[in-house]
Amino acid sequence: MPTGELEYKLAELAAKLDKPERENLKLLLSMAAGGLISGHASTDDREAQKQALDIAQKSLPLLQRNPKHAVPDGIVHIGRAPFFADDDLEALDKESRLYRSHAKRFHNHYVASDAPVAKEIALSSAINEFLTDKVGPALPTNKANYLYYDSPGLGIDPHVDKDVFSLNVLTMLEHSGARKSVLKLYPNGTTPITLELQPGESLVFLADRVTHERTPTTGDENIRLVSFGYAIL
Ligand SMILES: [Fe+2]
Repeated sequence: MPTGELEYKLAELAAKLDKPERENLKLLLSMAAGGLISGHASTDDREAQKQALDIAQKSLPLLQRNPKHAVPDGIVHIGRAPFFADDDLEALDKESRLYRSHAKRFHNHYVASDAPVAKEIALSSAINEFLTDKVGPALPTNKANYLYYDSPGLGIDPHVDKDVFSLNVLTMLEHSGARKSVLKLYPNGTTPITLELQPGESLVFLADRVTHERTPTTGDENIRLVSFGYAIL
């Protein structure tokens, strides 16, 4: 079946919906994409699966209300972020080590929230100005989590995040040991972008629209990250 540019038609449809309707459309498309990547399709037709995944993945980043700030592949920034001073990164690194003992297991990794330094830095005007410039007004959701993948076999399966992490600023604080685990993003169908963030580098992306996963850690691998959540207005 020719699909043409169905993703743009879905984006046009989304522009006519109100916010809750658009959120529902986003949820349906992201569940479809996650299910297809995880192999839960109801058909064995590989070509149809590939086409459906391609359309779902391409349409999700186009569903923002303000087309001026549309991010076609859902990836806003990769690398050292201009909004973090060295002092910020040092403070986050220090606090994340202290908060390891507070972390609770969540699926296949460990999460510590309510850390005061992380919550304060997530509200900084430098981050706010950067995000507003790139994607339009973004509201901090008061979500600032430290993530730990520090024993063999930890990771996270392909998924999209909830609204509170619509826009995610994810920063690597430590990746030591075997360094086999990678972050994979699926902005365009089945071919992933593989990322190996270095300590101090950030990924800023539309986490509720781009399917992403962390592949399992091995051996003595030790990964610490900090994740700030924002909602796009
Ligand atoms: Fe996520």
